[in-house]
Amino acid sequence: MTKIAVVTGAAGGMGQAICRRLLDDGCSVIGLDISWPDGTVLEATGFRGVTGDLSDAGAVKTIFDGIAAQEGRIDVLVNNAGTCFMSDFPDIPAEEFRRQMAVNFDSCFHCCQAAIPLMRGGDGVRKIINISSNGAYNFDVFDPPHYRASKAAMDTLTKDLARRYAAEKIAVNSIAPAMTETPLFNVLTEETLARAIAAMPHGTAMQPEQIAGWVGFLAGQGGDVCSGNVIVLNQGRDVR
Ligand SMILES: NC(=O)c1ccc[n+]([C@@H]2O[C@H](COP(=O)([O-])OP(=O)(O)OC[C@H]3O[C@@H](n4cnc5c(N)ncnc54)[C@H](O)[C@@H]3O)[C@@H](O)[C@H]2O)c1
Repeated sequence: MTKIAVVTGAAGGMGQAICRRLLDDGCSVIGLDISWPDGTVLEATGFRGVTGDLSDAGAVKTIFDGIAAQEGRIDVLVNNAGTCFMSDFPDIPAEEFRRQMAVNFDSCFHCCQAAIPLMRGGDGVRKIINISSNGAYNFDVFDPPHYRASKAAMDTLTKDLARRYAAEKIAVNSIAPAMTETPLFNVLTEETLARAIAAMPHGTAMQPEQIAGWVGFLAGQGGDVCSGNVIVLNQGRDVR
């Protein structure tokens, strides 16, 4: 049976690579994003894009009600939508703090709430893959604290849901990448970006397809026995 995969932030750098990988692996992919800039809409067979602000619980419910009506189930959910606001502590406006948590964490929380009822009782092991960040664990690099906290919250949710649904064969993991070349690099100054890339052991940023490869692996059979883990991808940068 063709797997139904839902990918959030599907129009972004990592999102498009993840969608392509899951399509290549034979999934039917529903991509969710707040906007679809020119040239980013995937026209591949098996892909459908849906527009909505996933930080809004009501919008998430409407979108997943639509998926329930059309597909009846979800096999794979990839919570990838996110951004990084760069104000630094203590000068972070309350509104920016709230938006950071809402885009990165609330969206993941609400999508999990909406997706799990559509995963329960399905065939095989269903998968939730949360795209976290190495920034939640490495305090040498630039990431501001509200970004780190939003991803740490995501990873705690990963573990809670992994434990809660293990016996129902819903596997939940986080992937926490470091510097990966996507449009998100534009939030950084040239100097910060150059310093962060120079700190990568290979001397280069990682590519979205490399992260997507791990998503594909977890979504496939190899991922059936893996749950509750935070998989850090950083070329070995933080090994001490
Ligand atoms: N690029 C990196 O180096 C890096 C490193 C660690 C973690 N990440 C994480 O990877 C994920 C993907 O980021 P990316 O690098 O591809 O960035 P990106 O900016 O290219 O993609 C992010 C996508 O999320 C979408 N999005 C943002 N807010 C949304 C909302 N409210 N509702 C729906 N969609 C929304 C955007 O429209 C965009 O298409 C993010 O969660 C990010 O935190 C990225």
